[in-house]
Amino acid sequence: MDDFRAKAQAHLVPHFTRGAAWRRGDLIVMDHGDGCYIHDTDGVRYLDGLSGLFCTSLGHSRTDLVAAAAEQMGKLAYYPTWGYTNEPASRAAEMIAEVAPGDLDEVFFVSSGSEAIESALKFARNYHLSRGDTGRYKVISREWSYHGTTLGALAVTGIAKLRDPFAPMLWDGVRHVRNTLGDSVPPGTPPSELASVQAVEDMILAEGPDTVALVVAEPVQNGRGALVPPDGYWPELRRVCDRYGVLLCADEVINSFGRIGHFFASERFAVVPDMITFAKGVTSAYQPLGGVVIRRPLVEQVWDSPMGSFLHGSTFGGHPVATAVAVATITAMHAEGIPGHVLAHQDHLRRGLDALADRHSCVREVRGAGYFYAVELMADRETGTDLTDDDALALLGGVLLGFLKEARLLIRPDDRGATMLTFAPPLVADREVLDDILERTDQVLQRTGEWIAGRR
Ligand SMILES: Cc1ncc(COP(=O)(O)O)c(C=O)c1O
Repeated sequence: MDDFRAKAQAHLVPHFTRGAAWRRGDLIVMDHGDGCYIHDTDGVRYLDGLSGLFCTSLGHSRTDLVAAAAEQMGKLAYYPTWGYTNEPASRAAEMIAEVAPGDLDEVFFVSSGSEAIESALKFARNYHLSRGDTGRYKVISREWSYHGTTLGALAVTGIAKLRDPFAPMLWDGVRHVRNTLGDSVPPGTPPSELASVQAVEDMILAEGPDTVALVVAEPVQNGRGALVPPDGYWPELRRVCDRYGVLLCADEVINSFGRIGHFFASERFAVVPDMITFAKGVTSAYQPLGGVVIRRPLVEQVWDSPMGSFLHGSTFGGHPVATAVAVATITAMHAEGIPGHVLAHQDHLRRGLDALADRHSCVREVRGAGYFYAVELMADRETGTDLTDDDALALLGGVLLGFLKEARLLIRPDDRGATMLTFAPPLVADREVLDDILERTDQVLQRTGEWIAGRR
């Protein structure tokens, strides 16, 4: 039999993976998927508790999505959307506009989340230019946010470890402000008093409002661990942006297409942003597709201006096969009531994780919403002891992965600002699958607690 492990080690450059880990003998070769489970070539069956990478929302082995792709490949494998359209690109755009909030009715397709962010940045600049507002180019985003890896998206990303090595290559127009972690106001106090809202307004004023083009934020922020915004945060951000003529973009690359129990999480947080970026779950990851859905008046402003067009594009934007799979995915999400299913089951997952936190004193906090949670770890909650730097290094350097492997559970050990485990099950996961995740997590936390205790 072919040795795919050896071939990969010889020729395949992995993403965000240490060379030492890649060269080890225990590299897993994934073979096939089956609903919420994945099998490797050694016959081991794993529970996919992260939907691959927040994307295989409808699970594996969906014959409807496979058929949609095959049919479209047979009919029209490719034609660009530069000056032309095709049936699936038109249908997918209409279906996305239908479920997007307010007048977000215009869809620009690309092939990934990073490209979606690049497109939002450039559209914001393009829009302001079309109005003769030539000074606006700066972007405000938040600390610990992840918005992608291409240079524009990386500049917006608020994770120093990822940005710093490339700092000389990044544009200097981005400012990072505090995120919503731990932010709240006393009952009866208006959300305008939230420090995380004031930080955005203060930054706009400090930079000069007529230089700021865009604010970008995730409704539930992944970096720093599933940060759910305090009540009123998003409507208040909307008001601040409107006050200074700044566009507002919700980065829903993870949050959209049911992850938080709605097609777009902006709906849950009662806001109509100017743009929403999406990717990942729009095709349930059966094809690479991303995009930006934009308020129609903004697109019309650009088209009706002397500029006349959005000066941006890519070969595969609106790819017929990718958009055909988006049509099939959204059709299935409607038919199977996926957002409603998530709303109906989110409390079961949340309560289960809270119960695990009660049982294991190595858990500091559980955060999240919908089918998206982070479990933040510490050494011992009873005594208020934090992990030492060495503990954290070892846990994130392989110890947690070892426990997850034992439990055959695919979730993510995360080091962005704390030591955490991130959960994002396929949106089709029912009670049985959620219970299976919780049982395996119980085992992982038991092993983690014992490991921490053994170091003291
Ligand atoms: C919120 C957010 N924005 C953008 C991206 C970048 O997406 P991609 O990896 O498809 O380029 C990601 C990726 O995880 C993301 O989580």
